[in-house]
Amino acid sequence: MRTDYCAELDESSIGKSIEVAGWADGYRDHGGVIFIDLRDKTGLIQLVCDPADSESAHKVANEVRDEFVLIVKGRVRARGEGLENPNLKTGKIEIVVDELIIENRSAPLPFVINDEKVNEEIRLKHRYLELRKPKVYNTFKLRSKATIAARNILDKNGFLEVETPILTKSTPEGARDYLVPSRVHSGEFYALPQSPQLFKQLLMIGGFDKYFQIAKCFRDEDLRADRQPEFTQIDIEMSFAGQEEVISMSEEIVQAIFSACGKEVTIPFNRIKYRESMEKYGSDKPDLRYDLGMVDMIDIFANCKNEIFSKIASDKKNNRVKALKVPNGDNIFSKRQMKGFEDYVRKFGASGLGYFQMKEEGLKGPLTKFFSEADLEEIIKVSDLKVGDVIFFGAGEKKLVWDYMGRFRIYLAELMEIIPKDVFEFVWVTDFPMFEKVDGGVKALHHPFTMPKEMNKEDVEDIESIAYDLTLNGFEVGGGGVRIHKSDIQKEVFKLLGISDKEADEKFGFLVDALEFGAPPHAGIAFGLDRLMMLITGSSSIREVIAFPKTQRAQCLLAKAPSTVDNDQLKDLSIRIRETKRD
Ligand code: AMO
Repeated sequence: MRTDYCAELDESSIGKSIEVAGWADGYRDHGGVIFIDLRDKTGLIQLVCDPADSESAHKVANEVRDEFVLIVKGRVRARGEGLENPNLKTGKIEIVVDELIIENRSAPLPFVINDEKVNEEIRLKHRYLELRKPKVYNTFKLRSKATIAARNILDKNGFLEVETPILTKSTPEGARDYLVPSRVHSGEFYALPQSPQLFKQLLMIGGFDKYFQIAKCFRDEDLRADRQPEFTQIDIEMSFAGQEEVISMSEEIVQAIFSACGKEVTIPFNRIKYRESMEKYGSDKPDLRYDLGMVDMIDIFANCKNEIFSKIASDKKNNRVKALKVPNGDNIFSKRQMKGFEDYVRKFGASGLGYFQMKEEGLKGPLTKFFSEADLEEIIKVSDLKVGDVIFFGAGEKKLVWDYMGRFRIYLAELMEIIPKDVFEFVWVTDFPMFEKVDGGVKALHHPFTMPKEMNKEDVEDIESIAYDLTLNGFEVGGGGVRIHKSDIQKEVFKLLGISDKEADEKFGFLVDALEFGAPPHAGIAFGLDRLMMLITGSSSIREVIAFPKTQRAQCLLAKAPSTVDNDQLKDLSIRIRETKRD
């Protein structure tokens, strides 16, 4: 129905007879001549309906309203002197309409499509209207290019694309499962995969050697700006390969994805060990676009005359005293602001936030009285303080201090506006601990199939694993590891996690069994495609790069899911609802 797309026409088309189609994006009646902006996926072009050119087209144009579907025949001409629109790609030309068809009408719109301020709920309810924006279309064009680039480079490197089951058994990635009741096996449930982890390992045991999948994953977890209950991974696994092979393959893939989106990134990426990342940035996904780092003060605080601090500092294994230096902070922040920072960290469990100001005459601050001259000198030395600098410090249990000081670091960077735009700072975080103690138990930090470096440590938290994450600008965009391929190690890990033989057999027996039949060494990774696209397109939320996203409350407002179902359907599934919670 068309010869051209609207915004692909340019001055070289002047004089050409063309046919275009799309939606009316506004109309103006200027003394008998009607101007319509016609929009398709490429952008806008101005239609001119002048009764002097075509009386019938002008008559039809009178009826046109926003979002009517139009099919147009006409000629391209240059706009008159002074009538050009520099804000429009096609602003130098217009189409003189000879024939205009209203192919379909639109009801009055629930919101103005190009209005950026419309509430997200209304936009999501009518997501198809928002998808009509050329800017939104462009996001999905990039996503498509990125996916194809990943497929191509993996194909070129001998990877096989294999689909793994969606109706399956629980996969342990740490979130709650989405369950699907079975009709045939009453009272039994499938789980939707949190990732294809177990199946990709089975493909390695099956000898496929190199696998990938653009895989939908499902996790019932608290949602944030970078999380959705269903999301897409570029999932990869390789046999007879270890960390280095996976990392270098990953770097090539990420570079290809960015290049397909018009962004060049340099490889190899930097690396940092988990422990260093926590100690310096208080996070396992450090944003390294800016240079704010923490230094250790525990030895100096061990000598101080304040009992609270000296007690905390006496337990170097479990506690930390961390200082964050803000160059010239004394001139940037008011005293009131500095006090206000304390309220910020308290929200994350801190009992307080101390600070020292570097003045001409030396260190100042409410706590200087507890330190000897020599220790104050030492603080200046280890933090390399210059006049005007401020250091903030947190003291307490190490995980708590890492967490709130890490958050405070980001908060300060945002406040000081020191985060450069359009910079992609990748960093591999490696050597993760295998286990984490939580609520009196032990949990796998990645997942229980990751290869530990060695198991014999007094404290389980000191056992390291061969696991690595790829982080970008403070987001985790990929995670993977070398897998356990020997059943005795796998059983030992389950034991340490407090998973009984019976439970291990019920949950992952099929994998443990398979490990007994000649499993090759293997390793892999999965990238969060949605998160990558969010960062590539500079979007503020993952929802912007998903065609039909769910809200923060895991609802699809468009299809109205989740929803109740017929009693007959429930009966088929042998399910009775005991109580329904209504919003
Ligand atoms: P992991 O759980 O780290 O690893 O997931 C891999 C990547 O997927 C993305 N991601 C998400 N994106 C959007 N919404 C979510 N809810 C969400 N959860 C995770 C992140 C993350 O880095 N099986 C392992 C991979 C492996 O070991 O090979 C796994 O799933 O970008």
